[in-house]
Amino acid sequence: MDNPIRTAEHLARMAKRREDLTSLLVQLIPAATSIIWEVGCGHGHFLAAYAAAHPDQLCLGVDISIDRIRRGQRKRDRAKLVNLHFIHAEARDFLDALPAHASIASVFILFPDPWPKRRHHKNRILQPEFLAAVAQRAGQGAQLHFRTDHEPYFRDSELVIQAHPDWKILPEPWPFEQETVFQSLAPIHHSLTAGRRVGH
Ligand SMILES: C[S@@+](CC[C@H](N)C(=O)[O-])C[C@H]1O[C@@H](n2cnc3c(N)ncnc32)[C@H](O)[C@@H]1O
Repeated sequence: MDNPIRTAEHLARMAKRREDLTSLLVQLIPAATSIIWEVGCGHGHFLAAYAAAHPDQLCLGVDISIDRIRRGQRKRDRAKLVNLHFIHAEARDFLDALPAHASIASVFILFPDPWPKRRHHKNRILQPEFLAAVAQRAGQGAQLHFRTDHEPYFRDSELVIQAHPDWKILPEPWPFEQETVFQSLAPIHHSLTAGRRVGH
């Protein structure tokens, strides 16, 4: 049976974490802004290079690993990139805490954990519910960029996106090249770009 005191402490910690994330995002995004969001940004190689090449775009990288986020922050500080922030958060918590005046222009999902066993597929980030949640915060013309070295995950994701009411796969070239840590270990990879469907 659950210990009610520990459960209450856990719930209080979670509420405090959500509150802190909300305040941080309001501070980082004080006015109506379109953001570039990288989910599971790891050490931040991709987004640091992207932010340097797009100084007019606000870039936010999110990861559940605090060590990886700290590495990203060091990259940002060394390069003095004021349009880049790395945030320790879970992807869905980030979406829930995003201020109403912020909208997503692009989301990058690069080499996410493939969870190869069928019984673990439910842990994959690219799921219909996640796509719907991103679409709710995505601006007109928003794009989602997905890259993986795991071919079965790529094929499954194509099917998930093709069947989704909010997104459609676009014949777009990959928008920006910068090798990530996991990409450097991958002999071959597959990429797709999806666009938010008009009218949604
Ligand atoms: C396989 S690594 C890829 C890292 C980086 N994108 C790269 O290509 O080198 C997956 C990353 O996603 C992060 N991650 C996994 N689930 C996440 C979630 N729900 N929200 C945020 N980050 C997540 C992990 O901590 C890890 O850093």
